[in-house]
Amino acid sequence: MRLSPEFRKQFVQHEMRTYGRKNGFVTTGQEERLLRWLPVIGLQKEMTLADADIPAGSPIVLEIGFGNGDFLVHMAASHPDWTLIGAEIYLPGVAKAVGRLEDAGVIKRCRITQIPAQFVLEHQVAEGQLDGVIINHPDPWPKPRHHKRRIIQKDFALLLASRVKEGGFIKLASDKPDLAEWMRDILDATPGLRNVAGIGGYVPRDADRPETKFEQRGHKEGRGSQFLHYIKETT
Ligand SMILES: C[S@@+](CC[C@H](N)C(=O)[O-])C[C@H]1O[C@@H](n2cnc3c(N)ncnc32)[C@H](O)[C@@H]1O
Repeated sequence: MRLSPEFRKQFVQHEMRTYGRKNGFVTTGQEERLLRWLPVIGLQKEMTLADADIPAGSPIVLEIGFGNGDFLVHMAASHPDWTLIGAEIYLPGVAKAVGRLEDAGVIKRCRITQIPAQFVLEHQVAEGQLDGVIINHPDPWPKPRHHKRRIIQKDFALLLASRVKEGGFIKLASDKPDLAEWMRDILDATPGLRNVAGIGGYVPRDADRPETKFEQRGHKEGRGSQFLHYIKETT
């Protein structure tokens, strides 16, 4: 079975420009799950969160770059009242996560999209609509000439801050010290955000956090991770 051009057009956003890989191998079983679930829980390009059938009063938490869905499954299991929005540009990651969420019996509380997070935040999420945002181990783009490709940039941080409601959170993790510093410095300087650890600080690892694939990879290579926690201040 192959995903038809119509299905791809509706649910798979390969034409949008962003850095990072979008395509890769997806098994027939994974395609079947995508075909079954994306029409139900997929956030299409024309939709906003207001059209996504989110239960009234349910806290909305967005995970950007969810990889294979480790953390989405964890959040869905540990916060049964939350609605989780997942944005991931790599189709095999989306396919794996959909399978895991279905197996864990939590998929109906998720809205999944392959649309780049920048577009999701700008066009599909309203100001102050999110209770929280998670960004675990974003792509490091280590070469200085590629730093502009890092997802956390000044403008992106402003957009992010505008979409989180007062009192809401933004949590990030990285196993790359220079990227952790880069994110911390930009977010510390973003108006309206307060670093829970104080300017320049990192918070301890949450005790109940699962190790995501990239946290594990860092460990195997001898690197610990740094964790950042921001609160959107009340005005
Ligand atoms: C290094 S991986 C980390 C995956 C996972 N969070 C973890 O901790 O194992 C970074 C992920 O971010 C995704 N990504 C990169 N740019 C993105 C964007 N603009 N919007 C959404 N996801 C993005 C990549 O496809 C990749 O899966």
